[in-house]
Amino acid sequence: MQQSPTGVQQQQVGLQQPNQPQLQQQPQQLQQQPQLQQQQYGKQTSGLQPSGIQSTQPKLQQEQGLESSQLSQQLKCPLGYGSDSFTSKEVSKQFGKIPGVIEQNEINRQNIITRQTGCPIGHVKDSLTSGSQGPLCVQDLDLLEKLQHFNTEKIPPRNVHALGTGAYGTFTVTNDISKYTCADLFNQVGKSTQFITRFSGIFTEVGDPETTRDPRGFAIKFYTKEGNWDLLGINTPVFAVRDAKAGPDQVHAFKRDPRTGCWNITQTWDYVANHPEGLHQMAMLFTDRTGTPLSYRTMNAYGCHTFSLVNSAKERFWVKFHLVSQQGAFGFNQHEAKLVAGEDPNFLSRDLYQSIEKQNFPRWKMMIQVMPEEEGYKHPWTFDATKVWKHADYPLIEVGTLEVNRNVVDYFTEVEQVAFSPATVVPGIGLSPDKLLQGRLLIYDYTQIHRIGPNFKQLYVNRPHGIEPMNNYLGGNMYIPINDSFPHYTGSAFGGLKPNAKYIDPPFKVTGNCGLYEVPNEGSFEDLYSQVADFWKILPEKDKNNLCDNIAASFFRVTEQRVIDKMLQHFAQCDQQWAQIIQTKLKERREGKWMSESEKVCMNYAQQLLTMTRREAL
Ligand code: HEM
Repeated sequence: MQQSPTGVQQQQVGLQQPNQPQLQQQPQQLQQQPQLQQQQYGKQTSGLQPSGIQSTQPKLQQEQGLESSQLSQQLKCPLGYGSDSFTSKEVSKQFGKIPGVIEQNEINRQNIITRQTGCPIGHVKDSLTSGSQGPLCVQDLDLLEKLQHFNTEKIPPRNVHALGTGAYGTFTVTNDISKYTCADLFNQVGKSTQFITRFSGIFTEVGDPETTRDPRGFAIKFYTKEGNWDLLGINTPVFAVRDAKAGPDQVHAFKRDPRTGCWNITQTWDYVANHPEGLHQMAMLFTDRTGTPLSYRTMNAYGCHTFSLVNSAKERFWVKFHLVSQQGAFGFNQHEAKLVAGEDPNFLSRDLYQSIEKQNFPRWKMMIQVMPEEEGYKHPWTFDATKVWKHADYPLIEVGTLEVNRNVVDYFTEVEQVAFSPATVVPGIGLSPDKLLQGRLLIYDYTQIHRIGPNFKQLYVNRPHGIEPMNNYLGGNMYIPINDSFPHYTGSAFGGLKPNAKYIDPPFKVTGNCGLYEVPNEGSFEDLYSQVADFWKILPEKDKNNLCDNIAASFFRVTEQRVIDKMLQHFAQCDQQWAQIIQTKLKERREGKWMSESEKVCMNYAQQLLTMTRREAL
């Protein structure tokens, strides 16, 4: 034993007694020995222990007959309810081992804290100093590594969809759609495929309250037997723009004002007023059920774009994907949403986590709308992401059920690093000429190379599960596999990897001159309003009223009247009465006849603060 600078009795690293495993301590057990605990570890309560400290824990554990896996299952979840029923180890077992990765528990059975290099650590609390008051010694390797790693532990947030949460689930086919597609995951009724999903806000940022008005993402990565398929859904069937070139401008208008760093609703409505193809999505966004969903479980989602399905006879069909919540689709009204935002900014993530822990697994029905290929070339809105296909013309066809049933255990590894892309498709599911979709094909992998790194597809959550990707790609930062194959190029007398012509997609028709086209059906009448008017017409009265309330509350904060005037003209083009109701509600607010408590507090203080001189108290 040696005396450490802090006076804690320590064994030297390497003198640890064999056969004395130091397994993770349970909060419950710790309560039984608080004195001993504090004497030995200061405030440390659980987790990895430095190797120099003797623990009485193994004895306790042996007495209770607990295995380490049982212990990890008993750990309380970070949100304070239920118990985690899965560990990363079990998750990786389920999908097969990652080549070259030795699971930690195979080698480190003693739960001793180590450096990244594996070297056991003898003391964790204090830094190595010259004398008790003295400066740090650079040779404190534990300190150096700890700080270096800490300083690099964040990666850039997603540019949009930054705020979100994730979970795993199972997709099960309930209806035979093999006449439309040969995709492996759909080829048999009853067949199940695992997936990971990420729910997100679009413009909200990490740390924002999750009940802020925002469209939502519902992205799914299906680990199919013929590779991963990503379905990137959002909770509106239409998008705000129809050309990828407009995407960054629209996002800029909906995010913070770069001059002040603050949200600026005037710029948002200004964008919509001047890009009315986005009115359709905006109208949906200002309903309660879409803009402020009660739960991620109570929202529908849509693939938005037109994709292709290709069957085994190589026939192509145009398709739109729908995910219909089996919990129903509900939202907070604006006042509830604000209250919940203040009370629990993580409300939506917590709700999802909790429901899964309680085995109350949310479900969605996957439905499709199908359009024959030739008809698609003639239909004006086949490839326009700002328009819907009417259900009466293209009825919903059931495909299967998604059940979200397993929480992640490591948010960073499984949710921050998960990377979706509309370009991640499988045989039997393909693309369309939709130019917004085409524009998105490049950008997702590109942004993920920036956000995560060039080999992001090799990470556990992103790689296919159950099959090994085979290709001749080599190297790059953080390249994981150890390749032992030759030839490492295609077309060689030595053999090697070969393509299979059965996976070639049939061509689709392209006509016209290379040029800059504003709308897909250029030259014909640009109908911006009829679908938005239909949407308004079918809303129940209460929803109509709340929609107008929500828009009026937002207009109240717009600082330029000409923006409001232009927006009112757009609403009037859809329905005069709609514009009229918004105008009346806005007037009432401006006259102070109607304002919520939180708005009053905000307004009053803002006005007082503006007029306050330096010495005046409020
Ligand atoms: C030009 C238009 C668009 C641009 C510029 C754009 C850009 C982006 C970017 C930069 C990300 C973050 C990716 C990451 O870092 O992992 C993202 C995520 C996402 N996008 Fe888009 N996007 C566009 C259109 C759409 C459309 C039309 C949809 C509708 C289906 C969509 C659905 C999603 C979803 C669901 C995510 C979240 C994925 C996740 O949870 O990680 N996006 N988009």
